[in-house]
Amino acid sequence: MRHRICLRIVSTVLNTKMRSHTYIDSLGSARMMARALDGKALAKEIKDELKIKIHNWINAGHRAPSLRCIIVGQDPASHTYVKNKIAAATEIGIEAQTIKYDATLTEEALIAAIELLNNDKTVDGILVQLPLPNSIDERRVCNAVAPEKDVDGFHITNVGQLCLDMPTIVPATALAVIEMLKRFKIDTFGRNAVVVGRSKNVGLPIAMMLHSDKNHDSGLGMDATVTICHRHTPPAQLELHCRNADIIITATGVPKLIKADMIKPGATIIDVGITRITDEQGKTKLVGDVDYDEVVKVAGAVTPVPGGVGPMTVAMLMHNTFQAAQKIWQQ
Ligand code: GUN
Repeated sequence: MRHRICLRIVSTVLNTKMRSHTYIDSLGSARMMARALDGKALAKEIKDELKIKIHNWINAGHRAPSLRCIIVGQDPASHTYVKNKIAAATEIGIEAQTIKYDATLTEEALIAAIELLNNDKTVDGILVQLPLPNSIDERRVCNAVAPEKDVDGFHITNVGQLCLDMPTIVPATALAVIEMLKRFKIDTFGRNAVVVGRSKNVGLPIAMMLHSDKNHDSGLGMDATVTICHRHTPPAQLELHCRNADIIITATGVPKLIKADMIKPGATIIDVGITRITDEQGKTKLVGDVDYDEVVKVAGAVTPVPGGVGPMTVAMLMHNTFQAAQKIWQQ
C-alpha cells in the first residue's frame, strides 16, 4: 500500500515537472518547451554571495561600501527603479542613499552636486538615474561622475575601456546578460548572436562583450559572431538574421517584436525589453520584446519578463558598487 502511494507521489511529481516542460501541439503530440531562465532566482543567489563578501569586507576592518543615487524630477518608473536599487543595496550591507532634486534643477547645479560626491571619501558609487529632464545634457552629466565611482559604467572612460577589452566598470544591464549566459551555461564560443537594439547603454556594451576575445584582459569576452540589428534593419532582414542566430538578445521596447517563426529551434533568447501595457481587462502589466507564449515552444531557453534580466540588472549594480569600493580602497 505504502509502495503504491509512493509511486503515485513520484508519478504526480514527474507529471507536474513534465507539464511545466512540455505542451501539446496542434497534432496532439507532446513537445518540449524552452527552459525559462529564472533571473529572479539567479539575482538572489548573486546578492546572497555579495552579502557574504561585504560582511567579510566589513569584518576585515573596512567601512561599508556606499552608494548615492541621484534622481531628478518625478518620473514614477524612475522612482520605483531607484527605490528597488536602494532596497537591494541596504539588504546586502551597502550604505545607500537617494538624493532627490526637482525637475527645475539646472545642469550646472547637478554637476556641482556630482562633484561634491566625487570628492567625498565616504562615497564609493554614484548613479544618476536616467532619463534626465530635456534641459540637461545626459552625456555631460555621465562624464561628470568620477570614472572610478561610475557604477553605471556610462562615463566615456569606462565605455572606452570596455571597447578596448580592458578591465572596467560595465553597465549593469549588459553585465546582467553576460552573467546569465555564463551562469546558465549557454555556449557562445563561435556561435551566431544577434543583438536587436543599438543603444549606447545596453545594445552596444552587450555586443562588445559578446564578440570580444575571452583571453583579453577584461575576461568578459564571449567569442561569438555578432550581428547588430536596429530600427532601420528591414523586417525581412531582421527575420533572416534572427533565424540564423543561436542566441538573440533583444532590447528595443517593442512588444512581440520577436516571434516564434523568427527563432531557430533550440536557440537562447534573452529579453531585455520592458514595456508597461494595459491588457484587454484594463490591467497594466510589464511585457518584453518577445512573444513569450509562442517563442517558448520553439526556443531552447528564454528569459521571462518580468523576472528575467530586470532583477539581474539590480544584482549586477550591487556587484559594480562593491567592485568600486574595493578598487578605491586599493588606490
Ligand atoms: N534608466 C534606465 N536604466 C538605467 C540604468 O541602468 N542606469 C541609470 N542610471 N538610469 C537608468
